[in-house]
Amino acid sequence: MQVTMTITAVRSAVRQARQQGKTIGFVPTMGALHRGHLSLVEAAARQCDFIVVSIFVNPTQFGPSDDFNKYPRPIEQDLAICTEHGVDLVFAPSPQEMYGDEVLTWVDVERLTGPLCGSFRPGHFRGVTTVCAKLFNIVLPDVAFFGQKDAQQAVVIRRMVRDLNMPLEIVVCPTVREPDGLAMSSRNQYLTAEQRGQAGTICLALEHAEDQIRRGVRDADTVAAAVIGILRQVPGIEIQYVSLVDAESLQPVDPVSGKVLIAVAVRIGSTRLIDNIVVDAH
Ligand code: PAJ
Repeated sequence: MQVTMTITAVRSAVRQARQQGKTIGFVPTMGALHRGHLSLVEAAARQCDFIVVSIFVNPTQFGPSDDFNKYPRPIEQDLAICTEHGVDLVFAPSPQEMYGDEVLTWVDVERLTGPLCGSFRPGHFRGVTTVCAKLFNIVLPDVAFFGQKDAQQAVVIRRMVRDLNMPLEIVVCPTVREPDGLAMSSRNQYLTAEQRGQAGTICLALEHAEDQIRRGVRDADTVAAAVIGILRQVPGIEIQYVSLVDAESLQPVDPVSGKVLIAVAVRIGSTRLIDNIVVDAH
């Protein structure tokens, strides 16, 4: 496995792989790799010949009060995991390599970035789309792999690729969960043992919502209220949003119909956690 911090080295390694007739699969990450990330690597390995993983804690997607400085960066461990899982190339650039001294060009996807996390993390999605556009231009993959765990991010990236005619396919992979249902996340390691015990409630609340919809409940507020009721059982939880939206347009749906994304963001202590479930309401 090759590891590089430079754009030039990525370009030349990818060019070489392509000359050998290989297809390029790309998994962008911020590191602190877990089984969720690995499911994307595995999907990439099934579909592509040459697997590129980027590890970059992207400063432009963090707000001033976000956890950029304390975000975990276990680079040696991440590299070992990538080696074990057959990754061909890891790109781990510095902020300077990615952004230089000054950025004047940003990629902004309108409307889809307004609701859900967009309203709690101003500028977050602009940072995500800009870094992904840059990474796509550097790696030039045939396919890039994203997780359903970050449902809004996946919708926004798909739209950017479509609107800007980027020549790659976006594949979205299912959320990987802990045995108690908690969606795997690099941020779970911030939780104390007690908070970790409580965090499984988020998934239970989403499952309850799915169950209600399957039983025929169509009033979005009723479903959201039930989810909030379950989440409130966690002491000290701060609920940022519980939203039922169309899974593609991210616009509110009431009554519930079609493919509905039930998305939740909470804080447990100082740790922000998001999760979601998609339900087909016929
Ligand atoms: P990061 O949080 O490291 O996640 C990298 C990718 O792994 C994302 O596509 C995310 O949705 C996926 N992922 C995370 N947890 C997952 C889980 N439990 N199951 C399945 N997939 C999961 O998302 C980012 O980094 C950044 O915003 C990035 C796209 C790299 C841009 O900086």
